[in-house]
Amino acid sequence: MIIIRSKNELIERVAEDRENDIKITLIPTMGNLHKGHTSLIDTSDNIHSKKIVSIFINPLQFNNSRDFDSYPKSLEDDLNILGDKKVDYIFLPNHSEMIDNIAQTDILPWGFDNLLCGTFRGKHFDGVQKIVRKLFEITNPDHAIFGEKDFQQYLLIKYIVQEYFPQKNIDIILSPTVRMGNGLAFSSRNTHLSKEQVNTAALAFKSIKETVTDYFRETSLMNFDKLIPQSGGVTYQYVKMYREDYLYDKHGLKLPDNPKRKTFRLFIALIIDSVRLIDNYPVEGYDIS
Ligand code: PAJ
Repeated sequence: MIIIRSKNELIERVAEDRENDIKITLIPTMGNLHKGHTSLIDTSDNIHSKKIVSIFINPLQFNNSRDFDSYPKSLEDDLNILGDKKVDYIFLPNHSEMIDNIAQTDILPWGFDNLLCGTFRGKHFDGVQKIVRKLFEITNPDHAIFGEKDFQQYLLIKYIVQEYFPQKNIDIILSPTVRMGNGLAFSSRNTHLSKEQVNTAALAFKSIKETVTDYFRETSLMNFDKLIPQSGGVTYQYVKMYREDYLYDKHGLKLPDNPKRKTFRLFIALIIDSVRLIDNYPVEGYDIS
């Protein structure tokens, strides 16, 4: 495990690996590593390649500096966690290495501003796009692994590959969401919650998920507004279900293999004591439109 802080050093090492016919897998993170992150590394164990884990808290993807400043940082713990895993390079760039001279990118397709997190998070996806492009340029990966928990981010990564790296055809791997025993997805933001709030959040996701999927199976309708509780300690920012092929289309992506498939996905964002949490679940079903 080699810790690298300079992007030029990483570029050189990767170039050397390539000369020796070694493939590269990239796992980008913002640190504060938990079981969701380490599962991405476990997923990469099945790929014959060198593994790069990057840790960089990207200021461009936060809506305000308060959110950025309060983002949990735990580098020492992170390095200990990574020490137990099979990781070849840990990339820890500083701010200027990543942000200075960053490419200004084109406007993203409609969905990234008008659907799900895109509606509520301002320049978030634009910021993610810029930094992931930069990471791809530096690491020149054959594979990159992202979590299903951030499904709209996964669509963005697919879009980046399609638009900016068409020749390279980077293999983007979606790794399943890891949840606690109570069903709440692991998230760095959970550290801002008390034990009681963690349980409240777990219950809130579970109950709205059951309510809307039952309703969808009975009616095939996807407008859940009247089912969303308006009181209690939890505010639902959105509860939305879409067909996956619709999502691909609205995010500027070519359709996946089988456009006839009836796979839907339920997306939930909720706020508990000003901490915003998201999750999503695949749902099988039929729509009547
Ligand atoms: P971060 O929130 O640190 O997440 C890094 C990766 O871990 C993402 O691919 C995310 O989807 C995945 N992940 C987080 N929680 C997970 C869980 N419970 N189960 C499975 N995977 C999970 O996402 C980012 O950082 C940033 O936007 C980044 C891509 C690094 C760009 O700055």
